[in-house]
Amino acid sequence: MNLWIVLVLAALAAGASAQSCTCDTLKWAVCEESPCKCEISVAANEKQQLTCSELIPKCFLMKAEMYRAKKGLETRTIGGKPVEDAFVDNDGIYDPDCENDGKFKAKQCNNTEECWCVNSAGVRRTDKGDKNLKCEKLVETYWVRLQLTHKPAKADVDASKLKVAIAEAINKRYKFNKDLVDNVEYDPKARLIVVDVKKQKGERQTDLANMAYYMEKDVKVLPLFKSQEKFEPTVGSEKLEMEKILVYYVDEEAPTFTMKNLSGGIIAVIVVVVLAVVAGLLVLFFARKRSQRYNKAQQREMEAM
Ligand SMILES: *[C@@H]1O[C@H](CO)[C@@H](O)[C@H](O)[C@H]1NC(C)=O
Repeated sequence: MNLWIVLVLAALAAGASAQSCTCDTLKWAVCEESPCKCEISVAANEKQQLTCSELIPKCFLMKAEMYRAKKGLETRTIGGKPVEDAFVDNDGIYDPDCENDGKFKAKQCNNTEECWCVNSAGVRRTDKGDKNLKCEKLVETYWVRLQLTHKPAKADVDASKLKVAIAEAINKRYKFNKDLVDNVEYDPKARLIVVDVKKQKGERQTDLANMAYYMEKDVKVLPLFKSQEKFEPTVGSEKLEMEKILVYYVDEEAPTFTMKNLSGGIIAVIVVVVLAVVAGLLVLFFARKRSQRYNKAQQREMEAM
């Protein structure tokens, strides 16, 4: 009898220790015991070692997602019910080239002949070009604006407590410095919370892209964290569940998109306006020349007299 208890306890202990090596910051990670090592497949024969005590670099996450999508693997949790926006806004994804430390390479081609330059969040910041496109360096995103819409709350949301609540939630969940939450604005009618997360230009310790990406997944699909607990800032006694998120990126240098992005209609209007202005200037120019000639003729007549 006693022997049985000992055996059961031993089995439980073994089970518990087997589960001790897991990856808190990425549920898809595959971990190995003693020493505890976690990795994720990012291509057919390519695995990426992970540091699971930190948020995983967005570049590795995107690469892993592309690979999983290609293999028809679940990019959501198994059996997880996608929220309303789950399928929207996936068009930004591509198969990125990453540096060894998880940063995006400045130039990205998505395994095609068409390339573009990205910022530190891996978001395109130039027109698309061919393979000879030059991207001098990776331009850092130093400011992200997170536009969150929360689900209807039971009571009115106390806007004065919102900033602290959001900063706290971001700090706890993404291990992000509270002080970087620069400004929070609230529109109760639209249930819209605008959060500006900003760092000093030139600062290279914090990566806004990781945090924003984890939050995007938290809101749009399901958490990347092993724990499927929701991102719910607590304001007063109310837990605010989010239903939509839109992320704006601000880089240390302005992006260089050109007119290619303008629609044909706008270009046509610009062309017509420019032509009209040029025509007007020409008319003015000739009118003035004629009057000058007239003046000179008058002068000569005066002198003759
Ligand atoms: C990258 O390529 C994949 C197909 O391999 C495609 O589904 C995706 O839309 C592409 N992304 C971009 C941003 O071009």
